[in-house]
Amino acid sequence: MTDSQTAAPQTATVPAPAPASDREPLLRVTGLTRHFPVTKGLFKRQVGAVRAVDGIDFSVNAGETLGVVGESGCGKSTMGRLVTRLDEPTGGKIEFEGADITHLGVGAMRPYRRDIQMIFQDPYSSLNPRHTIGTIVGAPFRLQKVATEHGVKKAVQDLLELCGLSPEHYNRYPHEFSGGQRQRIGIARALALKPKMIIADEPVSALDVSIQAQVVNLLDDLQQELGLTYLIIAHDLSVVRHVSDRVAVMYLGKVVEIAERDSLYASPMHPYTNALMSAVPVPDPRRKERRERILLTGDVPSPLNPPSGCRFRTRCWKAQDICASQEPPLTAAKAGHQVACHFPENSATE
Ligand SMILES: Nc1ncnc2c1ncn2[C@@H]1O[C@H](COP(=O)(O)OP(=O)(O)OP(=O)(O)O)[C@@H](O)[C@H]1O
Ligand code: SF4
Ligand SMILES: [Mg+2]
Repeated sequence: MTDSQTAAPQTATVPAPAPASDREPLLRVTGLTRHFPVTKGLFKRQVGAVRAVDGIDFSVNAGETLGVVGESGCGKSTMGRLVTRLDEPTGGKIEFEGADITHLGVGAMRPYRRDIQMIFQDPYSSLNPRHTIGTIVGAPFRLQKVATEHGVKKAVQDLLELCGLSPEHYNRYPHEFSGGQRQRIGIARALALKPKMIIADEPVSALDVSIQAQVVNLLDDLQQELGLTYLIIAHDLSVVRHVSDRVAVMYLGKVVEIAERDSLYASPMHPYTNALMSAVPVPDPRRKERRERILLTGDVPSPLNPPSGCRFRTRCWKAQDICASQEPPLTAAKAGHQVACHFPENSATE
């Protein structure tokens, strides 16, 4: 009943967003860490740790989209699971609307569970094949015992419509839908409790390229309409380009660069970002010659035993002695642009 007082306006008259610097961070993450212990023998003696997320800092402002990119295994999903509190951090702090939620118990976490929802990569495995769409999308109402004005069925049908599906799909089963439609069902379920923030872990990478843009556009439309805040995880820079206000680049459990979208794509500063960028097709063919393709050599080192100093140094063509001995901190190189590198590219001092 209080929803009507607190919900964001849902009409077309959405106020113009305030400049990024004036907005309150909805989510703030400081020193976030997740080490998975590696044990050995009968007594499960700990012999090491997978440093999946190894001390990362970032914030997401209300109403904005932060894209997070990086190669497989760099800790993106682990970070998403920590922020949604599906996994327990081994260090650092997570604040949502200024409240420390890092280690809240089940009861204290309940209101935040409504506010922070997750969308997963594989829409099929995250939907129970034995349940109808009505049951799946209506589950959050039942689980959280949320009253709906005209009943759960009507609320679910409204959500299906909002996500571009027909309300008639209510009694159908997940296998009757295409991949894109299933992802729309996953999105409808995530929206059921009017969340403030959505963490989307590779929401389109399992879909046909032709369908990807439709789902990305749906997320964009929903953000405009409902005032949502997004953290969207993707493998490559092309998927998040259209939707992100800012982009964070992860490498081996660390954020190596975080910047406003246009600044990042126009002048990437971390050598790793440059390498990722060179693999993205350039939309304007006249610019093709100007971007050299950088082929990264060598495998990503193991997060069990990351390189000393800068973790990217084993694959970096600019590496020097200092890169092995001193870890470069993430620092502001220019307005709205932070990078962790001793010799950043596209900087005024280069
Ligand atoms: N439960 C776990 N126990 C041990 N190690 C784990 C666990 N979950 C993830 N890892 C390890 O942590 C690292 C980061 O994994 P994560 O799934 O977060 O990466 P990712 O960036 O999402 O990769 P992808 O792009 O393939 O989805 C990997 O080395 C992975 O093997
Ligand atoms: S700190 Fe050194 S090794 Fe790391 S990215 Fe920068 S130049 Fe390369
Ligand atoms: Mg992942």
